[in-house]
Amino acid sequence: MKIMVIGGGGREHAIIKKLRENKRIETIYCLPGNGGIAEDAVCVGIGATEIDRIVAFAKETGIDYAVVAPDDPLVLGCVDALEAVGIPCFGPRANAAIIEGSKVFSKKLMEKYGIPTAKYAVFDRMADALAYVETAPIPTVIKADGLALGKGVTVAFSREDAKKAIRESMEDHKFGASGERIVIEEYLEGPEISVLSFTDGQVVIPMVSSMDHKRALDGDKGQNTGGMGTIAPNPYYTEDVAKQCMDRIFLPTIRAMKQEGREFRGCLYFGLMLTKDGPKVIEYNCRFGDPETQVVLPLLKSDLLEIMQAVTDGRLADVPVEFMDASACCVVLASKGYPGKYEKGFEIEIPEALKEHVYVAGAKKDGDTLVTSGGRVLGVVAVAGALEDAISKAYDMAKQVKFSNAYYRSDIGATALAAKKAK
Ligand code: AMP
Ligand code: GLY
Repeated sequence: MKIMVIGGGGREHAIIKKLRENKRIETIYCLPGNGGIAEDAVCVGIGATEIDRIVAFAKETGIDYAVVAPDDPLVLGCVDALEAVGIPCFGPRANAAIIEGSKVFSKKLMEKYGIPTAKYAVFDRMADALAYVETAPIPTVIKADGLALGKGVTVAFSREDAKKAIRESMEDHKFGASGERIVIEEYLEGPEISVLSFTDGQVVIPMVSSMDHKRALDGDKGQNTGGMGTIAPNPYYTEDVAKQCMDRIFLPTIRAMKQEGREFRGCLYFGLMLTKDGPKVIEYNCRFGDPETQVVLPLLKSDLLEIMQAVTDGRLADVPVEFMDASACCVVLASKGYPGKYEKGFEIEIPEALKEHVYVAGAKKDGDTLVTSGGRVLGVVAVAGALEDAISKAYDMAKQVKFSNAYYRSDIGATALAAKKAK
């Protein structure tokens, strides 16, 4: 079989490493991939949103199955375009990817179907939004309606910050058309839990839960990033919480999408907050999370391709989806300065024995040398029976991967360990 994976980050590297375990696969192509993924797949210089070129490549190459991993091609209809030429895909069609593509859509869906989430209001006019925050409870949360490279959310701890975020979005067009319409939301408090799930539109099977670390600095300080590390499973996701999530959030969401004529097939990501009133939805993503996937897929015992194809064909109930009873930790090595300015182009040294544990995001080949090319450069992933062992193993390995100006947080998993001990 010839498989094509669209995307080029650590998440795609994790998907490819897992798919490679399936012996039916002869070749995996990655569009565009990166210098590290090139060790595990054939990288092709076509961007993830160049849908016409993706379709043409798939036809010429005789691709048997495609995995569309990032949000933008999904929202732009990459799956619809590939299906139109007869190529089966993992990922939702555009009419279902809207669950991430429009916050207004997802808030209205949750309201209509009684799915627990923060209270909200929608604004198309800046003057109305500015007037609203004059009396809204503070802190408050301002969200651009559309995709904004993960940067469209501001948690404002003062009215001034709220107004600034509104102006940046609606007047300065910081997020382009995505921020011309905004959602202003009630501020929720509690531990955050990420749950990725497989769904074929009928059945929903949650994967092992995980915890992201979004802030740049130790102690959850500093700016928001694309994610500085993850652990799985998340100790706050107890059996009781899992049951509440299934009954009140996961199944109602799948049914709601079907009811709306937008059946969701693919990976549906639930960003949850465990509030004192129970779990509530912070966000939906129409795809695997990054860097959650780097800790979730190494724990998957079952065959990923088999599951993905069952999702596509609407027979997910018939295949095994089993996870190891173990823990995983991913420590992200970034370029110092990220998410602000940083230098790149530095040589990366990865000991041969560690290569299977390294998931590359921002690196390219310069001749035969792998050099840094992005803010988040790579993730180092360890699996162990106990969470504390996974954490110390991940840090041991992180220390052996070397490039100039490497930076990583030193407390990935610390909150989870403390929560476990408090239990
Ligand atoms: P997102 O970009 O949607 O993942 O949101 C970024 C982060 O903003 C989330 O991980 C939360 O930490 C925070 N956030 C989003 N919505 C809320 C909310 N209603 N209350 C408190 N924090 C929030
Ligand atoms: N780690 C959060 C995301 O993938 O959106």
